[in-house]
Amino acid sequence: MKNTPVDYNIVKTRIEASGLTNLGTASIREIVKLVNQIEKATGMKFIRMEMGAPGLPASQIVVNAEIDSLKRGVSSVYPNIEGINPLKEETSRFIKLFLDIDINPQGCIPTVGSMMGSMVSFLVANRNDKTKEGTLFLDPGFPVQKTQVKLLGHTYHSFDIFEYRGSKLKNKLESYLKSGKISSILYSNPNNPTWMCLNEEELAIIGELSRKYDVIVIEDLAYFGMDFRKDYSKPGLPPFQPTIGRYTDDYIILISSSKIFSYAGQRIGMMAISDHLFERQYPDLLRYYSTDKFGHSAIFGALYALSAGVAHSVQYGLAALLKAVNDGNYRFISIVKEYGEKARVMKALFVANGFKIPYDMDLDEPLADGFYFTISYPGMKSSELLEELLYYGISAISLDITGSNRNDGLRACVSYVAREQFHDLENRLKRFNEDHALKMN
Ligand SMILES: Cc1ncc(COP(=O)(O)O)c(C=O)c1O
Repeated sequence: MKNTPVDYNIVKTRIEASGLTNLGTASIREIVKLVNQIEKATGMKFIRMEMGAPGLPASQIVVNAEIDSLKRGVSSVYPNIEGINPLKEETSRFIKLFLDIDINPQGCIPTVGSMMGSMVSFLVANRNDKTKEGTLFLDPGFPVQKTQVKLLGHTYHSFDIFEYRGSKLKNKLESYLKSGKISSILYSNPNNPTWMCLNEEELAIIGELSRKYDVIVIEDLAYFGMDFRKDYSKPGLPPFQPTIGRYTDDYIILISSSKIFSYAGQRIGMMAISDHLFERQYPDLLRYYSTDKFGHSAIFGALYALSAGVAHSVQYGLAALLKAVNDGNYRFISIVKEYGEKARVMKALFVANGFKIPYDMDLDEPLADGFYFTISYPGMKSSELLEELLYYGISAISLDITGSNRNDGLRACVSYVAREQFHDLENRLKRFNEDHALKMN
């Protein structure tokens, strides 16, 4: 039996009992469940880096606005499917102030988390042309969106963009698009899981090719403004978060409130359909919807069938928060900056103890410190590293499930790790390195 910081036998038994034959392919929620069980059985508190959940409290602005609306009786009334007006207007304003582009309030639609925003997008964007088949994901990426595409019976393609940054992106993208089968392109920016950030040149390439091949771009801004190398915090003033909205006409922007506003529990996000796409007519949509218009199909077809809109009170909550942000009274970026500061310290601890950061650069610039970073350890595959770290009280997820080309990396999320745990993290990493560096020599 090995002598490890967390009881070796208990961890081993729990892994076996979980039925997860390969931890490298386990989903995020499966790892969460396994670590909960190990913590309970051993009484040991883990350094939990597997789940991308906000680690900060929600603002009182949003909580109070939600409570006030409930007291006014909104819970007995169906909300409009297309969203309440104040929320639509504040979202359109937010997009103007922080992205410097114009999207009419009619195209700003609340969804049950950004998760539903991507589902609605696939339901319409991947059905607008019967000669096309599905989505091209710019990976590594958020695994559940691929599950959605699979559940819908659409096809998907993906490639790891790390090797195709800057001008190299063009040929690679075109190699997929020229098949004529791609309906939509999806990426997150900053990228979950690596924290790479696509720049203006790359977005211009995506925009140019989306026009050339008539492909809808779905831009997932779940981590809006969280490239902390730039100051995107001042409403209405440059620099602005880079966006596809400057480079093509037919696009959808997904804005999650989960991370930037720590509002994950209430499951509300916004999907913003560009004005051009909202009005566009696609005869093939008539196969599924009562109209050939994109925006109408998204709201009165897809969204109606999924949930008939979003909880009423939560819409008032988010509307109030967005108003405070737009008026400059709530500086959300200064608040979430804490994640970047924790990432800086945590990355340094890993590197000092023999680990590498496999996704380390944005072209010629070091990656920003943000919500996630990636780690690897020389000589270990992802699944082995994930399991080994469990014996040292550290949990993460494998990059294998994210569409990464690397088979030796993990994603670490900083949000649940308290600063008070840094000391434990350091000790456990030291111990890990002592035990494994020895093995390798
Ligand atoms: C890239 C990305 N997109 C979408 C989501 C889903 O966000 P929401 O909580 O708004 O459904 C997440 C959540 O982790 C994410 O990381």
